[in-house]
Formats: sequence, structure tokens, C-alpha cells
Amino acid sequence: MKKSIFDLLSRKGEKPLSMLTAYDYHTACTIDEAGIDMILVGDSLGNVMLGYDNTLAVTVDDMIHHGKAVCRGARNTFVVVDMPFMSYQTSVHDAVANAGRIMKETNCQAIKLEGGAEYADRIKAIVQAGIPVVAHIGLTPQSVNTLGGFKVQGKTVEAAQKLLADAKAVSEAGAFAITLECVPAALAQKVTEMVPALTIGIGAGNGCDGQVLVYQDMLGYTDGFTPKFVKKYANLHEVMLHAFKQYKEDCEQRTFPEKCHTFTISDEVLEKLY
Ligand code: KIV
Repeated sequence: MKKSIFDLLSRKGEKPLSMLTAYDYHTACTIDEAGIDMILVGDSLGNVMLGYDNTLAVTVDDMIHHGKAVCRGARNTFVVVDMPFMSYQTSVHDAVANAGRIMKETNCQAIKLEGGAEYADRIKAIVQAGIPVVAHIGLTPQSVNTLGGFKVQGKTVEAAQKLLADAKAVSEAGAFAITLECVPAALAQKVTEMVPALTIGIGAGNGCDGQVLVYQDMLGYTDGFTPKFVKKYANLHEVMLHAFKQYKEDCEQRTFPEKCHTFTISDEVLEKLY
């Protein structure tokens, strides 16, 4: 049975929630089998699936394409799909229309959008339309060009006060959860204690109501830069590279396919062919 937002909210201040990103059917099946509480079909798919430098080029159609596959695999896990850049910034109308499209076409349980008080009107309208919303404050990658890079947020008094005000605004607008990205742990803890919404941290310390990681990061899928907040639970890059090299060698040496991978035909049939 899928959890509802109320099942998730009952975990506030109790057992922390686990969330991972997924972008395809098989990963969603495995995350679901592991009993992870929530899946995020993040617009990080722009980086980790499509090879872009940032998330700005991701479209609503991209999110729906990947969201549908994930929702087919996540039989029990609560699925949140990201609203991509310019799908809600333009107007309240666009925000509700695109959130509605994502919900209808993917079968997900909630949408997520980046931004604080300035997007409270969008959050309120989407919730009023019957769509659960996860807000996302702190480091908001869609605003990388105005933030001046991927940096820890809320370090000065003004920035920390703005973060607290944003958390209050999005929670009052009806967001049932707030992603806190790259925020000092003590500030994230303050937000967690201040709002009734669930806080889901990524680079925000262990005082949040839950944690989220990009699955490729935590599996060590690539050997590139790893952010400080990522814990690597595996080294898939090494495993995959070894397997691909071994396969190449087997092809070149004709040691693959072996007898057990091969179909046979009777000599009687073969003889009749000549
Ligand atoms: O797109 C994403 O994967 C995210 C996480 C980093 C929270 O928004």
C-alpha cells in the first residue's frame, strides 16, 4: 500500500524518513524492494541521466517520461516528481497546469518545486488543486546563475533569516515537506523545529525529518567529483568498468559466448541445408 502524506507526516519528530532519487523503472523497483520511504524523480536527471552541466534545460516532457517509468516500478514507495525550470516560475496558472499534467501523466503522489516566499502563491494554488507539494529551499540548483554557483546557503545572519522566513512561508502556503539543500546543520535543525512540514535534508545535517541523496552519488556510479555531503555506499563505477572491460576481452578472445549461452540445432536438420 502506498503511504499517504499523513503517514509521512506522522513521522515528524519520530523515525527519520529515507528518500532517494530514481529516473528509471529498474532503479525504482530496487528502491521499492529496499523499503525506502520516498522516491524523488529529480530534475537532477539533467545532470546524471542526460549529461547537461545543470538542470535548466530539463523539460516537463522529460520529467513525465522518467516519472512514468519510476511510478511503474514504485509499487509501494511514495513518488515525488520535480517541476523543472520555467514550468512554474512564469505564473500561478502555468504552475497549476504543469503540476496537474505531471500528476495526471505520471501517476506520482506529489510534486516538488524550488523557491521560498516568492513562490508561496504557486504552492498555495497547487495544493488547492489537490496536489501535495514538497518545497525546496537553501541551494536551489535552478537558480544557479543568481546564486553564483553551487554553494552552502544561509551562512550570514540575513541569509539565515531569509531561509527561516522562506521555510515559514512555504509551510504556511501548504507544502507538506521542505527539501533543505546545502544548509548548515544547526540552521536546518531550527527550521525542522519551527515548521509543521517535514524537512528532508541533502547536505543539511542529521537533525532533519528525513534525508535524500541522488542515487548515482551514493552508489559511486561515476568517478567524478563527489560533494562533501554524500556518503558512498558502493563503488558501482569500479564494478561496471571491470565488467565492461572483461566483456570486451571475452568478445575479442571468443571466450564469450560459451556453450551455456548458445542455442543448438540437430545435425539432421543441418545436413539438409546443403
Ligand atoms: O533534483 C534533485 O535530485 C533534487 C535533490 C538534489 C534534492 O532536487
